[in-house]
Amino acid sequence: MKAALISLGSVSSQWTLAAMKQHFKEVDAIDIRNIEIGLGSPQPEVLCSGKPIGKYDCVYAKGSFRFVPTLRAVTSALYKTAYMPIKPATFTIGHDKLLTHLAFQHHNIPMPTTYLASSLTAAKKILEKINYPIILKLPSGTGGKGVMYAESYAAASSLLDTLTTLRQPFLIQEYIETGGEDIRIIVGGDKILASMKRKAGLNEKRANIHSGGEGEPFSPDAHMKKISVEAAKAVGADLCAVDILEGAKGPLVVEVNLSPGIQGITKATGADVAGKIAKFLFERTHERKQAGTSVEAQQLMKEINRGNGAQNDEQQIITNLDFRGERILLPKLATEMTKFSEKDEFVLKIAKGKLTVERA
Ligand SMILES: Nc1ncnc2c1ncn2[C@@H]1O[C@H](COP(=O)(O)OP(=O)(O)O)[C@@H](O)[C@H]1O
Ligand SMILES: [Mg+2]
Repeated sequence: MKAALISLGSVSSQWTLAAMKQHFKEVDAIDIRNIEIGLGSPQPEVLCSGKPIGKYDCVYAKGSFRFVPTLRAVTSALYKTAYMPIKPATFTIGHDKLLTHLAFQHHNIPMPTTYLASSLTAAKKILEKINYPIILKLPSGTGGKGVMYAESYAAASSLLDTLTTLRQPFLIQEYIETGGEDIRIIVGGDKILASMKRKAGLNEKRANIHSGGEGEPFSPDAHMKKISVEAAKAVGADLCAVDILEGAKGPLVVEVNLSPGIQGITKATGADVAGKIAKFLFERTHERKQAGTSVEAQQLMKEINRGNGAQNDEQQIITNLDFRGERILLPKLATEMTKFSEKDEFVLKIAKGKLTVERA
């Protein structure tokens, strides 16, 4: 099977690429900055450095919020033909903390109380009624860079004036006391691929590794696992990181990260996180292919059976072949229609580009 990793080529992406190469027969690394999309013809056109990109069974696309339009466009153009761990619309949701919290609200995912106000006057009204300290957040911040801590109304009010002057949208959020700790869980489908606890550096409130946080191994309990898997599903991600604050009210989800760095969590846990991600992608791609083949095969069988006695006629199937190492595995339909059995002997006629198999 063939895969593509569309990314900005970070160290985490390079690790993931190397691990994917251990599972997939071929893996192309595509720099998202070289992608062009053409819409308007019956099939959307996806070019990389001006050339049409290949055909893939799996496309893992990731990048920062600046690339959301490209991520969404490229995945929606390729969605029908390849397995993707992140749905096109998920890029828009996951890279915007407001849309993420709206998705959490829809799916009953526990989160800190979060406020949105569309004018400074309305925001100040919220500041008057809320308990301090509070958190102010930029919807598209990452690595802790868009998170502001305000201990009092005076601090929050001056921050809001500045944000409004800079025309920066913001969220107001209840502060969850965790002693500067958060939990990062990497979710793959219904499973947890890796998890760590991060502790904020001295004099810091943000636990992100990029803000000086330190990671240590952590095993979530069944409840936290369930919440993480549900949070990932709420935004439509099969593969992502989920950030959780464990406060007095229990675990609360603050974020999903569609392009999580894996260096910090690999170091903290000692686990082969890139390997687990690659294995997950491979298994899902294989499942999708199998499901696709059997659905197609069932449909074809139905059509064949519909015609009177058509079962004996020669049928043409246009399909990919499943290569297992250097061997070729034929679709199940070939066994069903030929009624070949293990006990039979066969004549194979083989030429370049052609293969026929007949019972001897
Ligand atoms: N409501 C909150 N209460 C307390 N700490 C918070 C809150 N929200 C975020 N933090 C701290 O800031 C860090 C970064 O916040 P997060 O929402 O995950 O944004 P980012 O995308 O920047 O990682 C969290 O890991 C946590 O340590
Ligand atoms: Mg975070």
